[in-house]
Amino acid sequence: MAEGNQDNKSSNQMWGGRFASGPAAIMEEINASIGFDKKLYAQDIRGSIAHATMLAQKGIISAEDKDKIVHGLNTIRGEIESGQFQFSRKLEDIHMNIEARLAELIGPAAGRLHTARSRNDQVALDFRLWVKEELQKTESLLSDLIKAFLDRAEDHADTVMPGFTHLQTAQPVTFGHHCMAYVEMFGRDRQRVRHAIEHLDECPIGSAALAGTGYPIDRHMTAEALGFREPTRNSIDTVSDRDFALEFLSIAAISATHLSRLAEEIVIWSTPQFGFIRLSDAFSTGSSIMPQKKNPDAAELVRAKTGRINGSLIALLTVMKGLPLAYSKDMQEDKEQVFDAAESLELALAAMTGMIRDLTVRADRMKAAAGSGFSTATDLADWLVREAGLPFRDAHHVTGRAVALAEQKGCDLAELSLEDLQAIHESITADIYNVLTVEASVASRKSYGGTAPAQVRRQIAWWRARN
Ligand code: ARG
Repeated sequence: MAEGNQDNKSSNQMWGGRFASGPAAIMEEINASIGFDKKLYAQDIRGSIAHATMLAQKGIISAEDKDKIVHGLNTIRGEIESGQFQFSRKLEDIHMNIEARLAELIGPAAGRLHTARSRNDQVALDFRLWVKEELQKTESLLSDLIKAFLDRAEDHADTVMPGFTHLQTAQPVTFGHHCMAYVEMFGRDRQRVRHAIEHLDECPIGSAALAGTGYPIDRHMTAEALGFREPTRNSIDTVSDRDFALEFLSIAAISATHLSRLAEEIVIWSTPQFGFIRLSDAFSTGSSIMPQKKNPDAAELVRAKTGRINGSLIALLTVMKGLPLAYSKDMQEDKEQVFDAAESLELALAAMTGMIRDLTVRADRMKAAAGSGFSTATDLADWLVREAGLPFRDAHHVTGRAVALAEQKGCDLAELSLEDLQAIHESITADIYNVLTVEASVASRKSYGGTAPAQVRRQIAWWRARN
């Protein structure tokens, strides 16, 4: 008991050492979101203006009060944008900071703004508006990247390079075809973004705390004023739902994964050993000790951003997974994850677009590599099937012997003599040399979606019509 009394006298002796003041200060620190949710100021003001306008139209507040509110909110926007606004942590979040300043500016009319709403539907609205704008930005950044790839693909529809599986030389492809693979990937990301915009295009405001409101509000009016397709249909779901944030983060994670694979290829291709590309000075750095080095830092950082973005997705999924309906304060932790991922993704997309636009393609190096590693072995097997009528499995075996012979002689398949080839299979004729070159190999892959230059040009045209 005596010990207990002592504890009471100095309440934060056990755990308060790191804090200058008592529990109230710690509460303020854990509770406040103004440090990061000030980013939502423009959405908060837009939402409040739409809400106040609707309240006046429905006769819930007077037109004079509405005018004062709108004028005051516009003043506050100016104060924030010119850096004059004093944000206060005591006022917790952006919603209360703005409302308190409104009261200072216009007096009691400010108190009427919060009629028929709660911070729960207010934050759901502000955050949705923010994520919607971010998705629109992402869509346009993805379009820029797709455009950069289409331009490179067009220039290099005929440029041969080795295609890889297991990062081992597989079959010759064109660099244009490889570029178009990324167009498909980023095109899918862009579709996902468009779908996410459709999914979130419902307006939360008017759901109030969780149950709706008794005031005769018009939620269709606010939805329309704020550019949403329609109001949300269930007030409980509306204040509990952060799917739009999770969807943004999943899309960001998938897109970042694509960027990371591309970054990895850029890192590999720009090594002296591969030498397929040369990065522009603008997107690489030198070494402070090794004068010969040119490092692909931008690509490496794009690759690394993926870690942060994936982390944000996992963080928010984990925050949400145990929450009962409806709003819980846990959900305040949604914003930093989304803001951080959005910033990282924007930067990664812009850096990648710059790198793709600026890099030099070393077609000679690509071509030399395309011909090494017996990359036309499949073409030899296909010739045996087509011209000599062998079953593919037998053709595969015959080709394997040709590869072994070339390896033993230290030459390429196309450098084996006709006698050598005929000793392996008597049906081989001089026509075989027409398929053993890398150009013949890529030109022969005319199947829809294949690497033949004509097919690549066809796919470029398909995307041009959609970009
Ligand atoms: N700052 C809060 C958040 O970001 C706003 C909503 C607070 N609502 C409440 N009932 N405390 O989630």
